[in-house]
Amino acid sequence: MKILISNIKELFQVEEQPRDFVSGKAMNEVASIKSAFLFIDDGVIKDYGLMNDLTGTNLKNIISIDATNRLVFPSFCDSHTHLVFPKTRELEYVDKINGLSYEEIARRGGGILNSAADIKETSEDKLFQDAMKRMEEIAAYGTGAVEIKSGYGLDTQQELKMLRVIRRLKEESPLTVKASFLGAHAVPAKYKEDQSRYVDIVVKEMLPAVAKEQLADYVDVFCDKGFFTVESTGRILEAAAKYGLQPKIHANELDYSGGIQAGIRYKARSVDHLEYTGEEEMEALKGSGTMPTVLPGAAFFLNLKYAPAREMIDKGLPVAMASDFNPGSSPSGNMQLILSMASILYRLTPQEGLNATTLNSAYAMGVQQKLGSIARGKVANVFVTKEIPNLEYMPYYYGSNKVDRIILNGKII
Ligand code: NIG
Ligand code: FE
Repeated sequence: MKILISNIKELFQVEEQPRDFVSGKAMNEVASIKSAFLFIDDGVIKDYGLMNDLTGTNLKNIISIDATNRLVFPSFCDSHTHLVFPKTRELEYVDKINGLSYEEIARRGGGILNSAADIKETSEDKLFQDAMKRMEEIAAYGTGAVEIKSGYGLDTQQELKMLRVIRRLKEESPLTVKASFLGAHAVPAKYKEDQSRYVDIVVKEMLPAVAKEQLADYVDVFCDKGFFTVESTGRILEAAAKYGLQPKIHANELDYSGGIQAGIRYKARSVDHLEYTGEEEMEALKGSGTMPTVLPGAAFFLNLKYAPAREMIDKGLPVAMASDFNPGSSPSGNMQLILSMASILYRLTPQEGLNATTLNSAYAMGVQQKLGSIARGKVANVFVTKEIPNLEYMPYYYGSNKVDRIILNGKII
């Protein structure tokens, strides 16, 4: 299929020389072309440029989209979600409004353990159908690639079930999907007094089974106060490395847990959440190749303190942002809302927000060579907006969907 998008008011995030990610001051720069065209052929971006330079195109057999007064962006990459889950948890949310903290709910056996109890009663098919609907919803808001975690199984059978659902989503959804094995998401109640016994199961039973079926691209651990210790995290990441699984971990959401440093030590692709990040953690992140990933939805929904994303960028670090779409701490996968939160809550400029949710988040899920920007040869995952004036309007006009047309893998959705 050939698609020509013409008369684009402004085409954003174009890259002549594709980069892996952008850091520090470079995060405030987004290359764009006004009055542009974008030509897509056979699933990939073939060419782009100024309308004036578009010559002699034979329009036969080409689908033509007129983007007068509209903007075109690369699709968002959402590098951290838990969008396969059995049930929403709105009653727990009311407990939260009434004053219970995330940790208090978890201690009472609520939270993640609640979802783990429900998943046993939910068939693979039902999990798949529900997740597919969520995928369609996030695609409509402009997401073209998504990382999805297991972690509501918490036993071998159920974790494998979740990962098989994610594999099916990978096969059947037009979105690009990466799977992370998160067996160490919470300590099941019966191992509460001695988490090392549960870690034994993760290491000796779950990891080998996951690797055997090649169900995961990454391994994740919730390394934080009240969840998994740095020692447990090290054991899991070391074992996972033997199967070639790179870490992407939950770290420093609830305390200065040492999770960031543990992630860096094991060459994590990303460390995520980061509410408790100080000088020491930022120093460790410098030049590490580990992408600091902030999850504004969870901090907003749980009323946490906000990760120092502004400071990280000012210190020269890269920052990615993702939705954390999950039933407990972030029941939304709307990346346009994340873009608004990036600027309103974290003081990122619209340019920095765009880099955080496209190129840098592509790196955070290992797809930056194919996605995250408009570059020749990259996979054609792009969206055309409604009639809107400029980039700044994207985070500014928050809460409504600015996306009009979606193209994934070079096909109109
Ligand atoms: O990323 N922080 C840990 N895990 C999830 C929450 C999952 C849940 O509550 O169901 C998160 O916020
Ligand atoms: Fe998460």
